[in-house]
Amino acid sequence: MRTLSLIHLKGGVAKTLSSVNMAYILAAIHGKRVLLVDNDKQGNTSKILKRHSYERPGVAEILTERSMDMKEMIQHTDYEGLDLVTAYMNLISASLAVMLDQQRPQQTRFRQAFGQVRENYDICIIDNAPDINISTINALVASDDVLVLVTIDDFAIDGLAELKEQIDHTREDLNPALRFCGCFITQYDRQNEADRQGREYLKALEGYPLLETCIRRTVKMKPSTFAREPILLYSSRCGASRDYKALVEEYLGMCPTWTQQGEENRNDKGKEI
Ligand SMILES: Nc1ncnc2c1ncn2[C@@H]1O[C@H](COP(=O)(O)OP(=O)(O)O)[C@@H](O)[C@H]1O
Ligand SMILES: [Mg+2]
Repeated sequence: MRTLSLIHLKGGVAKTLSSVNMAYILAAIHGKRVLLVDNDKQGNTSKILKRHSYERPGVAEILTERSMDMKEMIQHTDYEGLDLVTAYMNLISASLAVMLDQQRPQQTRFRQAFGQVRENYDICIIDNAPDINISTINALVASDDVLVLVTIDDFAIDGLAELKEQIDHTREDLNPALRFCGCFITQYDRQNEADRQGREYLKALEGYPLLETCIRRTVKMKPSTFAREPILLYSSRCGASRDYKALVEEYLGMCPTWTQQGEENRNDKGKEI
C-alpha cells in the first residue's frame, strides 16, 4: 500500500474534493483497492461518501485507542474498491488526548494502525485538515508521498514555506522515505490572464515542483457536493472530471515501480490473479 497525503494550511483549496475524486478514479478506472482516510474534523469526505456518523469509530479512535482493530475502523462505500475511514468532530478531543498521553509515541499512531491493513489496499489517500496539528503530523509520518494544492490568488504562496518545512522536518525526524511530489493548481481558469500568469510564476518557483495538470474551475463542482457524488459520476465530461483523470495518471506516472509491481499481481480488472 502506498500512502498519499493531500495537504495545505488553507481551507477551500479543494483538498477534500481532490481526495475524493482521485480515490474514486483510482478505484473505478484503475481497478486499485483504495483506502480513503478523512483526517479533518469537519468530516466533509465522510459526508460526500455518505458515511458521516458519530456512531461508528473512525480516525479519532485510531489516534486514541491502544489495541484497536483497524478493520473495525474501515467502512465500505457505495463504490467498489473504495473504502473509508471517517472523521467526526470528536477528532478535536482525540487530538488533545494524544497530546496529553505521554505513554506511547504520539506521531506514529496512524503508521502503526495502517500497517495492519497494508496488504489489503494498493493505495491510501489522506484528506487532511487545513492545519499542522498532531493528526496531520501522524498523516505525514504514515505517508510515502505528499501533494500540496494551490489556488491562484493574491495569497497563493502563503503557507507554502511552512508546509515545506514541516515535510522536511518529518522526513528528517520520523519518516526518511517521505517524498514531496510537488504542488498542483485547483480551481484554475485558463481564460483568465491572472491565472495564467500565476501558473507561470509557480512554475518558476524553486523548490516547489508544479505538476503539469491543473484542475479547472467547473460550475458542476459545487452541485456535485450537494449530490454527494464524485464529479466523474455527476458530470463525466466536465473539465474537472477530465483533469482529475489526468492528475491521477500524472501521479501514477511518478510511482512507476510501485505501479508496475501492483499490475504484475492483478488482472486488468484489478482483481487478484
Ligand atoms: N474545480 C473546482 N471548480 C469549482 N469549484 C471548486 C473546484 N474545486 C473546489 N471547488 C469549490 O471549493 C469548495 C471547497 O473545496 P474543498 O474540497 O472542500 O476544499 P478544502 O477541503 O481544501 O477545504 C468546494 O465546495 C467547491 O465549491
Ligand atoms: Mg476539506
